[in-house]
Amino acid sequence: METEVLIVGAGPAGAAASALLSTYGIANVVINKYPGVSNTPRAHITNQRGVEVFRDLGLEGEVIKNATPQHLMGEHVYATSLAGRELGRLRTWYTHPHFKAEHDLASPSAVCDLPQHILEPILLNAAAARGSSVRFNTELLTFTQDDDGVTATVKDRLTDGRYEIRAKYLIGADGGNSAVVEQLGLPLVGKMGLGGSINVVFEADLSRFAEHRPGDMYWFIQPGVGHDGNGIGVLRMVRPWTRWIGVWGYDVAAGEPSLTEADGIRIAHQLIGDDTVPVKVESISTWAVNDVYATDNMKGRVFCVGDAVHRHSPMNGLGSNTSMQDSYNLCWKLMMVLRGQAAPSLLDSYREERLPVAKQIVQRAKKSDGLMPPLFMALRLPPASGAQALRDALDALDAPTPEATERRRDFDAALRATIMGFNTHGVETNQHYTSGAIVSDGTPDQVAPRDEEIYHFATSRPGRHLPHVWVTRDQHRVSTFDLCGRGRFTLLTGINGAAWRDAAELVSKRFGVPLRVHSIGRGCDYEDSYGDYQTMSETGEDGVLLIRPDHMVAWRAASLTEDPEATLAEVMAKILGR
Ligand code: FDA
Repeated sequence: METEVLIVGAGPAGAAASALLSTYGIANVVINKYPGVSNTPRAHITNQRGVEVFRDLGLEGEVIKNATPQHLMGEHVYATSLAGRELGRLRTWYTHPHFKAEHDLASPSAVCDLPQHILEPILLNAAAARGSSVRFNTELLTFTQDDDGVTATVKDRLTDGRYEIRAKYLIGADGGNSAVVEQLGLPLVGKMGLGGSINVVFEADLSRFAEHRPGDMYWFIQPGVGHDGNGIGVLRMVRPWTRWIGVWGYDVAAGEPSLTEADGIRIAHQLIGDDTVPVKVESISTWAVNDVYATDNMKGRVFCVGDAVHRHSPMNGLGSNTSMQDSYNLCWKLMMVLRGQAAPSLLDSYREERLPVAKQIVQRAKKSDGLMPPLFMALRLPPASGAQALRDALDALDAPTPEATERRRDFDAALRATIMGFNTHGVETNQHYTSGAIVSDGTPDQVAPRDEEIYHFATSRPGRHLPHVWVTRDQHRVSTFDLCGRGRFTLLTGINGAAWRDAAELVSKRFGVPLRVHSIGRGCDYEDSYGDYQTMSETGEDGVLLIRPDHMVAWRAASLTEDPEATLAEVMAKILGR
């Protein structure tokens, strides 16, 4: 069997790759060793950059229909149990009015809560409908590569038969135990198997505990495992407010526990804090936190995306989002190389651009894991303290004494600090690149005016993400994002930028690469009705922004150059390696 791209794995990374490639008209086969998509909810948080990938695929409506919206995600309650005493609250996922404004200004898409077993079919259905061959029960065994392509040997797990798939390129999207990474010998840095967690997926109507303080996670300080005999349990909403994951720790040193349905009910009741609530356990599984990234993500004609090359704790919800964005970065490049529009050297930019992102998100999630122990330190618990000591320490927080004032101050500060496990808007939206697929405009590096981990930084500097602003056409609002993407380069220019349009036409013909052009301003293709484009573009009315298919600014000119055609041709030649 032959195809252009073989994708190993149909999780968020592989499913996104197959949806993108088939949308771009590139033949692809996606294989998954299991009979279906993820059978547990796993990742939920789909951040703005994640939803934007769906938007570009024309699938944002499906996401909105199936996801829990932002306004039901934000209230993170810290308590002794769901029914128990509240210790404090956070407003997460940009639901605090201050952050809500920042969130809304950054993107036309909103963060939402979309369980992975629902997210994956949205991508895979689209992929199959657009021409991808989706093969379940099919496992990659080995592969070899030569100058012209990759030959993979796969096993049909229904018949135990083996056959070969020949592809021009292979994408390893095969998750945390990636056979592709192993066979390529890609170097990994960090540790696997740090801290064990038990996930109990269950049905229970918890509306009366959650509806009036809606959040996607409720955090409980209870006697258990993790911090000197005490732990943090989590009730993770899957569907409001009837389907949940109860997360509880286990001691890795004691080995993986074997758990029964009764254990699942016990854990659920312990977290709920009310044994009379009817609970129906759906599944129980264990997982370990990893803290690993690869220091290379490609070799020859094989590219690795997603958890295969970055694994970390669920804090900040960066896992599935980063995985989909790896594919968003890679697939348009593969498309252009396969169509002969770009030289294979364009693919090297995948390494240059996504390796720093992998390292950054793993380090961010690790830092966020470190935000929880200070809660226990603030309680000043004695070593190896038991349940009673924890109860006493929590009770002591209410005491009207100077000693308790200090404890309260430390505990409240530790609790507030955990917001960095959820509200890192900058980490999500500011990913930026320096690579051969970005051409400098010669301006000096710009320092973000605020903390780049926390705050979104909108700039049209080459290598940054195109900023979102609303423009209008026929009185209807349109995001700048919707003027770009869908597998094509775009030029955005102003009212005096007609020469860029002429240049684009000639360069497009010369390179055989479609170049879409939009003018924005009075009487242009789009009206800058709010005046935001003028500010955001950081260019004059005769300037131009060149936007890549993945919404990154490839290059910009503040004003018309002497010979726009020659300038644009030079820029495109650099990016495409021609
Ligand atoms: P993923 O692991 O999803 O997919 C790998 C695919 O490869 C699967 O389809 C598998 O069958 C296939 N495969 C593997 N080997 C193969 C072979 N040899 N041949 C063929 N197919 C093969 N993240 C987050 O952002 N927020 C969260 O809240 C959580 N929560 C969470 C909870 C739990 C319990 C887990 C285990 C994980 C999370 N995550 C998470 C992490 C998140 O699930 C993860 O980052 C993404 O699933 C990664 O997507 P990938 O597509 O890279 O790998």
